[in-house]
Amino acid sequence: MLRRPHHDQPESFEFTPANLAWAKAQITKYPEGRQASAIIPLLWRAQEQEGWLSRPAIEYVADMLDMAHIRALEVASFYFMFQLKPVGSIANIQICGTTSCMICGAEDLVGVCREKIADKPHTLSEDGRFSWEEVECLGACANAPMAQIGKDYYEDLTAERIAEIIDDLAAGRVPTPGPQTGRFASEPLKGLTSLTDFDSGHYAHNASVDLAVAQEDTVKRIDGTEVALTTPWLDDGDADSPATARADTKPHEAGAATGGEAVAEAEPETLSAPRGGAADDLKKIGGVGPKLEATLNDLGFWHYDQIAAWGPAEIAWVDARLKFKGRIERDDWVAQARSLAET
Ligand code: FES
Repeated sequence: MLRRPHHDQPESFEFTPANLAWAKAQITKYPEGRQASAIIPLLWRAQEQEGWLSRPAIEYVADMLDMAHIRALEVASFYFMFQLKPVGSIANIQICGTTSCMICGAEDLVGVCREKIADKPHTLSEDGRFSWEEVECLGACANAPMAQIGKDYYEDLTAERIAEIIDDLAAGRVPTPGPQTGRFASEPLKGLTSLTDFDSGHYAHNASVDLAVAQEDTVKRIDGTEVALTTPWLDDGDADSPATARADTKPHEAGAATGGEAVAEAEPETLSAPRGGAADDLKKIGGVGPKLEATLNDLGFWHYDQIAAWGPAEIAWVDARLKFKGRIERDDWVAQARSLAET
């Protein structure tokens, strides 16, 4: 594929202040005269900020590293992970089209992308919110077919599931990544044949998914305020230096999950069985997998409107009964449930 800067370029590019502090800190990792070695992380951060690498962004990074513009362009155009044209403002769906995924149904996933996004890859949807492309093996072949969306892998996909995921993203929700069929990780489809005493019921997700859920930055543009910038090799004690630059605390970090002020518990209204014998699919709430859904059902919650009605005291009551604390607020189950109840 021909890789060249897009014909329609923005006037300029600048890192956000927090991303600039992060970028300057990266450069200090390399010895004097070798700052160009930071080219890939800086280009990557520019792409994380904007979604794609414009020519002004490439040149801005080249100037930061005292490199000729053409050298930075060579790097950006060589690696396929760099997007040289605009991608969807919400997400660029990367469907793996290599052997395992192709055998297991990748063509069906591509068909959904063609139908829901654009007929051709690397093309924006009509509303500009999505794009898609076919990529080479992403190393999750045991969970084929799969797609990378933002930073995360969505595995064990079907055409129906990728369509739902795109719809969820379009509605402002971020579906929980990882296996989409209830499989915990990449264990055999027919069940464990070794380490058979492992009980995945102790965990809401496998470690990769748990980290992805905790970081919450899957399809979001990164402005540098997401994480504390730690540069322990720069111990100069200067509050304005990259070494001590810190992001603002995220709202959810101030909550119960991280030891905030305790909220009095109040038991929410529960049901002994779903109304009319038809429970809502609570797994549609981002952060709720099959295990958590079963736990919620055991506690007496079967419907979106029940969860949508929780206030802080009810959240505290439910949270106290979950193995992993804080995820109700972190994943904003209440807002998600409200939106699902309205659809
Ligand atoms: S073939 Fe798709 S992840 Fe390897």
